[in-house]
Amino acid sequence: MPSTILVGGFFGDEGKGKIIAYLARHDKPEVVARGGVGPNAGHTVVVGDKKYALRMVPSGFIYEPARLLIGAGVLVNPSVLKEEVSSFGLKGRVGVDRRSVIIEQKHIDEDKKDSNLKNKIGSTGSGCGPANAARAYRTARQAKDAKELAEFICDAPMEINTALDHGKGVLIEGTQGFGISLLYGTYPFVTSKDTTASQMAADVGIGPTRVDEVIVVFKSFPTRVGEGPFGTQMKEERAAELHIEEYGTVTKRKRRIGEWDAEMAAYSAMINGATIVALSGVDRLDPSCRGATEYEELSREVKDFVAKVEHDTRVPVKLISTGPEISEIVDLR
Ligand code: GTP
Ligand code: IMP
Ligand code: MG
Repeated sequence: MPSTILVGGFFGDEGKGKIIAYLARHDKPEVVARGGVGPNAGHTVVVGDKKYALRMVPSGFIYEPARLLIGAGVLVNPSVLKEEVSSFGLKGRVGVDRRSVIIEQKHIDEDKKDSNLKNKIGSTGSGCGPANAARAYRTARQAKDAKELAEFICDAPMEINTALDHGKGVLIEGTQGFGISLLYGTYPFVTSKDTTASQMAADVGIGPTRVDEVIVVFKSFPTRVGEGPFGTQMKEERAAELHIEEYGTVTKRKRRIGEWDAEMAAYSAMINGATIVALSGVDRLDPSCRGATEYEELSREVKDFVAKVEHDTRVPVKLISTGPEISEIVDLR
């Protein structure tokens, strides 16, 4: 490792949760810290026949010795967090930075009412946009002032930087994706914050000089949920032919499916400063590769596609996900 940031290279839902869970189990980090916007994200982690859907807790939770942190930049919905901590048995492992901002019911109501956010942008209705607006207006409430979060309150940057001082591994988990970044995405059809690697470092409180690897995850067939332009979107018939059908973890909306976007991948790899590309869903390109764990098991078609992705992004593809389950991966690092 020692410090690795992982982010989404397309429009979110690239399979970050799966890759993070694999990396946590394989690389055994001391800390897994979550950056990103907040509970608008939905990560899916499949371990054996168990399927977890996570909105607040880092997907690295499956590696039991890891400390699980939520950075200052992240918005916290206390009831979503507590529900995950109790249903996944994570008591004592989770820390929330004292400066994280709380999502209140009024933020959720605002996000769900008939207005710009719901109707034009197609927001997730999780209250994130209004809570980030309140943060910018300096009227938001911080985690340290929320009684219901008392047991979780910590100084995340102190814990993370101390772990790094001792040469321990730290995995920083981004959410959302490049195309919905407030800065670099398809504004105004974007989320309420930047989603690039630099933002994730700021969210959890490490400086740029302390980042060793940046992994950008791309989906072989990108998806987009919510409104906004999607240059390589395919016709429904083609998605059906490819047997690709996906629904949002948080909103259950149908995800639009697209073809590989070389230009976007290159631009996103550049702004994220990618050192490694992780490519998910190659089993959709060639179902015979489902579950492969060795490069040699991949078909010519998939190997050629991996080479194309390396050519387009000018970054080595070192992680190739061959199915949703966490062991379905080729690790070339
Ligand atoms: P956000 O943080 O919300 O952007 O989500 P995410 O990047 O963690 O992705 P999410 O789990 O929402 O969506 C990815 C979907 O693809 C999930 O249903 C995963 O189980 C699935 N998935 C992940 N990797 C693979 C893969 O290699 N092949 C296939 N077929 N499915 C995969
Ligand atoms: P908001 O973040 O809820 O305000 O939603 C703004 C836009 O970002 C909408 O198009 C959402 O569908 C999209 N979005 C937000 N979070 C995610 C995510 O985790 N995955 C995919 N799309 C997301
Ligand atoms: Mg998701």
